[in-house]
Amino acid sequence: MSPRAFVLGVLCVLSPVPAPAHTHTLSLDGKWTLTNSNASLSLPAQVPGSVHTALQQQGYIQDPYFRFNDVSYRWIALDNWTYTVTFPGSQLRDRQKVLLVLDGVDTVSTVQLNGMVVGKTDNMFRRYDFSIRDWLQDGDNELKVSLLSPVLYASERRNAHSAYRVPPECPPDVQRGECHVNFVRKEQSSFSWDWGPSFPTMGLWRGVRVEAFDVLQLSQLSSVPLYTSVLRPVVGKSLNIMMKSVEWTVQVQLLVDVVLKTSGQITLSIPELHTEHTFSSQFVPGETGLSFSVHVNTSSQVRLWWPNGHGEQPFYRLLVRGSQDGVVILSTESKVYFRSVELVQEPIVGSPGLSFYFRINGKPVFLKGSNWIPAHSFQDRVTPAVLRNLLQSAVDANMNALRVWGGGVYEQDLFYDICDELGVMVWQDFMFACAMYPTEDDFLQTVREEVVQQVRRLASHPSVIIWSGNNENEAALATDWFNIPASQRPTYVKDYVTLYVDNIRAIVQQEDQTRPFLLRPGLLDWRTFPRTRFASEYGFQSWPSFSTLQPVSIKEDWSYDSDFASHRQHHEGGNQQMLQQAALHFHLPSSTQASSRFTHTLYITQVMQAQCVKTQTEFYRRSRSEIIEGKGHTMGALYWQLNDIWQAPSWSSLEFGGKWKMLHYFAQDFFAAVLPVGFEDDDTLLVYAVSDLSQDLQLRAVVTVFSWADLDPACTLKSDLLLVPGGSAVPIFKQPVAALLAGCGRCTRLTCLLTFHLEDDSGQQGPTNHHFLCSPKDAEGLQRPNITAKVQQEGRDTPSRSTLPPWLRSCGSTWEPSPDASAPTAS
Ligand SMILES: *[C@@H]1O[C@H](CO)[C@@H](O)[C@H](O)[C@H]1NC(C)=O
Ligand SMILES: *[C@@H]1O[C@H](CO)[C@@H](O)[C@H](O)[C@H]1NC(C)=O
Ligand SMILES: *[C@@H]1O[C@H](CO)[C@@H](O)[C@H](O)[C@H]1NC(C)=O
Ligand SMILES: *[C@@H]1O[C@H](CO)[C@@H](O)[C@H](O)[C@H]1NC(C)=O
Repeated sequence: MSPRAFVLGVLCVLSPVPAPAHTHTLSLDGKWTLTNSNASLSLPAQVPGSVHTALQQQGYIQDPYFRFNDVSYRWIALDNWTYTVTFPGSQLRDRQKVLLVLDGVDTVSTVQLNGMVVGKTDNMFRRYDFSIRDWLQDGDNELKVSLLSPVLYASERRNAHSAYRVPPECPPDVQRGECHVNFVRKEQSSFSWDWGPSFPTMGLWRGVRVEAFDVLQLSQLSSVPLYTSVLRPVVGKSLNIMMKSVEWTVQVQLLVDVVLKTSGQITLSIPELHTEHTFSSQFVPGETGLSFSVHVNTSSQVRLWWPNGHGEQPFYRLLVRGSQDGVVILSTESKVYFRSVELVQEPIVGSPGLSFYFRINGKPVFLKGSNWIPAHSFQDRVTPAVLRNLLQSAVDANMNALRVWGGGVYEQDLFYDICDELGVMVWQDFMFACAMYPTEDDFLQTVREEVVQQVRRLASHPSVIIWSGNNENEAALATDWFNIPASQRPTYVKDYVTLYVDNIRAIVQQEDQTRPFLLRPGLLDWRTFPRTRFASEYGFQSWPSFSTLQPVSIKEDWSYDSDFASHRQHHEGGNQQMLQQAALHFHLPSSTQASSRFTHTLYITQVMQAQCVKTQTEFYRRSRSEIIEGKGHTMGALYWQLNDIWQAPSWSSLEFGGKWKMLHYFAQDFFAAVLPVGFEDDDTLLVYAVSDLSQDLQLRAVVTVFSWADLDPACTLKSDLLLVPGGSAVPIFKQPVAALLAGCGRCTRLTCLLTFHLEDDSGQQGPTNHHFLCSPKDAEGLQRPNITAKVQQEGRDTPSRSTLPPWLRSCGSTWEPSPDASAPTAS
C-alpha cells in the first residue's frame, strides 16, 4: 500500500432521505403474488421478502431450519419464481419522468411491465432503477419480476466459462451446499458455509417503488472525502480541546436526476455550527453528482464521534435546500458526524515490516470485537429488534469493532445507523470470500456498479473505518488452497489484480479518499507484517445451548452422535475436534442418560471455547506495547465470529436468537478497558496490566491463591504500585510459581488455583481474572457443589446451570495459544 497513513478530515453522514413533496412516490411494498415455473403453486407473498418465507407463511413448508429441512427444501431454489403485482398508472403518467426503483432483487431476474421487458438484474447488492413512463397505462399496470434459479444460473455461467476453472467450484460435501456461487453476485454463504445451511434465496429482498417527477429529484446524498490537517492529541490535554483549532470541511455530494437541463441554487447549513453556504448549480438530465464543501466556522467547538469506550457519539444536523426562481425544489436533512481515521503503517524499531493500527481522532485505538455474519438465511427475518439486540450485545461485551465479513451481505442502513449510535467501528469487506472470481466484462461491470453504489451509500457513516477488498481470497491464491498448477497461476493472479486492484480499489479510491482501502494480507507484501499486528480472525467452535436447539429438533436428535448432530456440523471433523480439545482439560460428560450426556456435552464445548478464545485474546491485548522476536505491537483482536445464522455448532459467541454463549460473558471481561492478564512463562507467573484508557493509572496487582477445596483464600500477594500509561500493556507482577506456592501453606499445582485483579488507591480497576496451575481435570480437592440456580426469563438468560456436575466447576486451563488450540476457521 503506498500511502502509509490515510488522514481523513471529515465525515458526514446522510441517511436515506424522503423525496421532496413534488415527487410522487408509489410504494409497491406489501402483498404480491408468487408463482413457480409450472404454476402448480401460486400464493400471496410479502415484499420485501423471499420465496422461502412466503411458502412458510402460507403453510406450504415448515420452518426451513427444522431438522433436515435445508436438504428437504432444496427444490425451492432449483425452480424459477415470478412475483407479480398490479398498480394504478393514472397519477404517474402525468409526470415527465417515471422510474421503477428496486432497492434489492435476489438475484437474477427479468422485469416486465405490461408484458414489455423494462430491465434485467443480476446482482443482489445493487439498486436498480428503470425508466418506465413509456410503458405505463392509465388503468392497472402489471409488473412482473421473473427470477431464475440462482443454482441453475451459477452452473450455466460456469459452463460458459470453459477456458479454465474458477475454484472452489463446489463446497465440501459436509456442507451439503450448491456449486459455483462465485459466478453470481449474491450472498456467498447462501449456497452453504462451514457454519451455515444452503438456502440459495430468491426474492425481492428490499423495497420496490415507483417515483414520478417533473423537474428534479434527489436520488442520493452522500459525503465525499476531504483532507484537513493531521490531528494529534496533545499530551495531558483533553482531546476535545485540542480539536478546537482544527478546521473542518464537510464535503457533501448530491445525486440528482432532472428531466431537462436547468439551473438552481443549493443551500447547505449546519445550524448548530453557525455554518451556511449557498451554491449556484447546473443540473443536467440523468444522474448528476454535485459536490459542495461547507467550511465549519473555526471558532466553533466541534464535538467528535468516538468509538465505544473512548467517548461519545454526537452528531449535527445538516440541512439541504434546493430552489429555482425562489421555489423550493428540494428539501431534506441528515446527520453529520465528525471524526478522523488513519491506518498507521510505519516502521517499528526492532521489528521487520510495518505497524498496523488505527488512529481515531489522532488517538491510537485497540480494536476489540468480532466478525459479523448474516443474522439469518432469509434477510427479511432480520428485524430492527434482531439487529439492535445483537449489536447491543457486542457493546455490552465491551467491543468497539466488528468486521462485516465478505461472504455475507452489505448490511442494511439500520445496521450502520446503530453502529454510528453505539460507537461500533466497522471493518467493511466487499462481498467476496474464499474463492477465485471470474472477470468477464459483464461480471466486472456489475461489480463496478455495486462498488460505486455501496461506497456512496455507506461513505457517510463514521462507524465505517476501512474498506477491505475481500475475505481470504489472496490467502487462497498465495497459499494455493485450490491446487492450481504453477503454469496457470499467472492467469489467476491477473484475474485477481483485474478485479480487486484495477476495478474495486480504483473505484474506492476515486469515491472515498477518507478511508483506507485494504487488500490483505497482500500479494505484493505477503508476509511483511507479522500476523499478530492485528488479529482479524481466530476462534474455536462450540455448540449452542439446548434451549436453542430444542425448537428445531426432536428427541431422537438429542445425542452427540445423532444424525442431526452431524448434519448441523458443517466443519469437517468439527464435533470430534471440540471433544478432543475439551478432553485435554476436562473430564468429558459420562452420564448414562443420553440426553443429559448431550446437554452436558453442549455445555462443555462452550466452556472450552470460552477458555480458548479468552487465552488468545488476552495474549493479543498484552502484546500491544512490546516486540518479542520481531513480533508484537498488536492493535486489534476480532475473534471469529460474533453471531450465528442458524441453530448449529459454530465459532460464534452469540447463539441464533441472540442468547449469550459462555464466550460472550468471558468477552465482557477480556475486552474490559482495564484488564489484568496472567500467564506462565518458564514456570514463572506474570501478570500484565492492560489499559485502553486515555489517562495514566497507578496500579498494583493483587494475586490470591485458593485451594480447590475451599472458598476462603489460602494467601494473597500484592505488587508495588506501578505507572500504567493510558493505552499500554505493562508487566506488573512476576514470581516463580514454586516460590509463590511455597509461601502459601500446603498448596501445590494440583490443589490450588489463582485469581488476580488490579487496584489503585480508589479500589479495584477492571475485572477479577483467574489462572489455573494444572489442567482442571487433574485438579485435586474439588467437591461436588450443591448449587441451585433459577433461570430468569426476562432479558437474556444465561446458559442453564440448574445442576452442576463437578467438572463444570472447573472452567479453565493454563495453556498458551498454539496452532491446535485455535483450529483454523475456514471462513
Ligand atoms: C411443478 O413443479 C413442482 C416444483 O418443482 C413439482 O414438484 C411438480 O411436480 C411440477 N408439476 C407438474 C405438473 O409438472
Ligand atoms: C427455469 O428457467 C430456465 C430458463 O428459462 C429454464 O431453462 C429452466 O428449465 C426453468 N426451470 C424450471 C424448473 O422450469
Ligand atoms: C462563528 O461562530 C460564532 C459563534 O460560535 C458567531 O458568533 C460568528 O458570527 C460565526 N462566524 C461566521 C462567519 O459565521
Ligand atoms: C444441598 O443444600 C441444601 C440446602 O442447604 C440441603 O438441604 C441439601 O441437603 C444439600 N444437598 C446435598 C446433596 O448436600
